[in-house]
Amino acid sequence: MPKHSHSLPKYAMREIIEPFRIKAVEPIQFTTPEQRLDILKKAKWNVFLIDAEDVIIDLLTDSGTSAMSAQQWAAIMVGDESYAGSRSFRKFESKIREIWGLKHVIPVHQGRAAEKILMSIVGGKGKIIPNNNHFDTTRANVEFTGAEALDLVIDEGKDPDSMHPFKGNLDPEKLRAVIAKHRDSIPIGMITVTNNTGGGQPVSMANIREISAILRENGIPFFIDSCRFAENAWFIKQREPGYESKTPKEIAQEMFSYADGATMSLKKDGFGNIGGFLAMNDDALAEHARNLVILTEGFPTYGGLAGRDLEALAVGLEETLDEKYLEYRTATVRYLANRITAKGVKIVQPPGGHAVYINAKEFYPHIPATEFPAQAFVCELYLQGGIRGVEIGSVMFGRHIDGVEHPADRELVRLALPRRVYTQAHVNYVCEVIEAMYETRDTVKGLKITKQPPFLRHFTCEMAPL
Ligand code: F0G
Repeated sequence: MPKHSHSLPKYAMREIIEPFRIKAVEPIQFTTPEQRLDILKKAKWNVFLIDAEDVIIDLLTDSGTSAMSAQQWAAIMVGDESYAGSRSFRKFESKIREIWGLKHVIPVHQGRAAEKILMSIVGGKGKIIPNNNHFDTTRANVEFTGAEALDLVIDEGKDPDSMHPFKGNLDPEKLRAVIAKHRDSIPIGMITVTNNTGGGQPVSMANIREISAILRENGIPFFIDSCRFAENAWFIKQREPGYESKTPKEIAQEMFSYADGATMSLKKDGFGNIGGFLAMNDDALAEHARNLVILTEGFPTYGGLAGRDLEALAVGLEETLDEKYLEYRTATVRYLANRITAKGVKIVQPPGGHAVYINAKEFYPHIPATEFPAQAFVCELYLQGGIRGVEIGSVMFGRHIDGVEHPADRELVRLALPRRVYTQAHVNYVCEVIEAMYETRDTVKGLKITKQPPFLRHFTCEMAPL
């Protein structure tokens, strides 16, 4: 008889830890507040114009900023760089077919290339393309063809305080009404998972099923913008009855079983630094798309990517569906959200899968929309902590095509978390900076724009504090 018998732990640990350890590190360059003031002045108070090296924590986007795994780096070494019929393409294609279940898989260099190709086939003047919310590049590619990009998200999706579990859902009644009036003008219908524009909010399986049924009854193909499909699958598992014991992969497979096609930026849930694809079942559409791919992206078995990228992406698509990873991923976003809301900061609730969206109008109630409260927050976040976020407010949306200023619906700041890049301590630091900003919020002033281009001004416009 052994002297000590092993006893199993008496309680389940609550701490959710990063499900990886770190093999290669990238040093962060630290700056002082004085240096940052200088940098911000030189960048004309536009953080898009700051060098990434001058940023301590970069939350500008979760796109293309992921850390690849050792397995992905290993896969890079076996990339087949053949121009046509590369072995790496076959791996990529079969992984996507396994998850998406779509017949034709066409690689492209990133999501918007898939949108551009799809929209140049199905779009055009007089056409209407419904979506829950079109992401900016999707909208731009729809509108570039002369078509209308129609947002039909449920009303709860527009209310920052609504705690609806699936605020990304597309309103079936609004869709039916549009189809009743314009059936012949709708070449495809779309849903974006998760709904980035609406705050990274998920779409339920029931909604995907219903929207698919409505579109198919009317003979309209259904495409899913699947950038953050794994995060969406995780929310379905957590929030939708009947999916508790399904794996994220099974859930993703069911989501896509209702679709006739998909666009994808593999820079998000593909764990890629670059990459995307367009997929569909329709043979004629695929042939047309492949012809367009050859025109701008390259031969259809590499589509603007290196063979090694295709290898790394095939591995990434499996890793992104790992439950431990998705649990940690969503816990990080929730932790950041909970800590700053406990202090009194208002955000788009509930926090989504990839980012926290701070309500700057409520943070700086004394700064009117015409003085860009969300941009003031972005600048202050950089000055105080060297953290880079992005303004989604009147700098981004406040100027219309006619050159007239209209305040945007919301003044938000998005803090997007790159995948597997920052640790808990980094997130704690972000919380501490925002908590400190909250204490001194009365003293912060707005900005004015001193120079701007005719469109998409937020990327390059110059500003100055008031
Ligand atoms: N669709 C959605 C929902 C997106 O969020 C993005 C990109 C795209 C399409 C376009 O993909 O960048 O690979 O061409 N979103 C990034 C962001 C830029 O920061 O949210 P892409």
